[in-house]
Amino acid sequence: MIKFLNLGLQPLANSYLKKKNLNHKEKKFKLEVAFNKKNYLVSIVNTVPKEKMFNNMYPYKSSESKTMRKSFKDLTTKVKKRFKPNFIIEIGSNDGVFMKNFNKKNIVGVEPCKNLAKLTKNINYTTYSEYWSMKLARKITINKKAELIYSANTLSHIKSLNEIFRAINYSLSEKGVLILEDPSLLKCIKNVAYDQFYCEHIYVFSTIALKNILNNFDLEIFDVQNTTTHGGSNRYFIKKKINKLYTIKKSVKNEIKKELKFGLNKISTYKIFADKVKKSKIKLLNIFQKLKKKKLNIIGYGATAKSCTVLNYCKIGNKFIDYFYDTTSYKINRYLPGSKILIKKYKKLNKKNIDVVFLGAWNFKDEIFKKEKNFIKKGGKFIIHVPSPKII
Ligand code: TYD
Repeated sequence: MIKFLNLGLQPLANSYLKKKNLNHKEKKFKLEVAFNKKNYLVSIVNTVPKEKMFNNMYPYKSSESKTMRKSFKDLTTKVKKRFKPNFIIEIGSNDGVFMKNFNKKNIVGVEPCKNLAKLTKNINYTTYSEYWSMKLARKITINKKAELIYSANTLSHIKSLNEIFRAINYSLSEKGVLILEDPSLLKCIKNVAYDQFYCEHIYVFSTIALKNILNNFDLEIFDVQNTTTHGGSNRYFIKKKINKLYTIKKSVKNEIKKELKFGLNKISTYKIFADKVKKSKIKLLNIFQKLKKKKLNIIGYGATAKSCTVLNYCKIGNKFIDYFYDTTSYKINRYLPGSKILIKKYKKLNKKNIDVVFLGAWNFKDEIFKKEKNFIKKGGKFIIHVPSPKII
């Protein structure tokens, strides 16, 4: 592994602080990113035990945004039509945003965060509140294998890819399909979206890396689609090599070609990226300093895990940002880790008391700009740091 990016000491991205704990020392870890020359996998170097991140207080809910609800709903319609699955496993079912589009008889969820698993259990969807593992795979599919296994924004959070894919291989029927959806490394590097890296995102996958990993488990990608979620993701359709039901689509070759052309197989590409990240930090700080000199009121929008990386790496605290707005009830009245900026219950942006808004949830820019069109009309501005920090 070759380290190429150092994002400094970072707190756990989703560990929002209560007021009474503001003076407690926060646990921090070194956030460094590395490239594996052999299989092209990009991962963070130091990982945090999963129990510290995915427990009974996990704040992130997938159904918080319209964009995500629509994306999962659209996929469901397509999946039903294309694969007609009768038995589905969802790994990382979160609050049920995907699961709920299926009949309870046809799908089971796996969600180790107990607070989230409870939400789907309460409406009688079978949900295993455990980490995905070989042991759980045996428990769920000892008698009947899954025709579809779906996992969005989850496998990139799990350290042991070996255990994951062994368990998937065990649970997937011979003619079954595995659909994985995760942020695209190509998009991340192209957009200088270094905030895709935080404690939970152990990996940001490229097609070339995933192909190499899957190969070890006799699995292969037969289709890949680019989606717009999380700032640009890939949806991979995967099958067992022995499954001849599906032919490998041109999309796979094309995606690989794009990635190789950009140089995702070369360390030099990542070194250029790291250089751009350093420049991005300087530019973003300059923007904040200039705006503060003018005594403008700056707030944040979307207290994301991604913001945690940006704010702590760029050392942007409550001197620059008065508070964040967020719709997630768990986050409200807590403080962002590290930067200790207060999170308030979301209200429509008002030009009377807010001049500029740092867009922490830049991946929902279109949805948010639509919602805040009055603020924009009245001259309200946003700071966006991807692909390069600017005021718009
Ligand atoms: P997201 O960018 O999906 O994830 P991550 O934490 O993985 O970086 O998080 C979006 C956050 O933004 C979530 O806390 C909800 C919040 N949000 C709003 O407050 N208002 C909105 O209109 C939208 C779309 C999101």
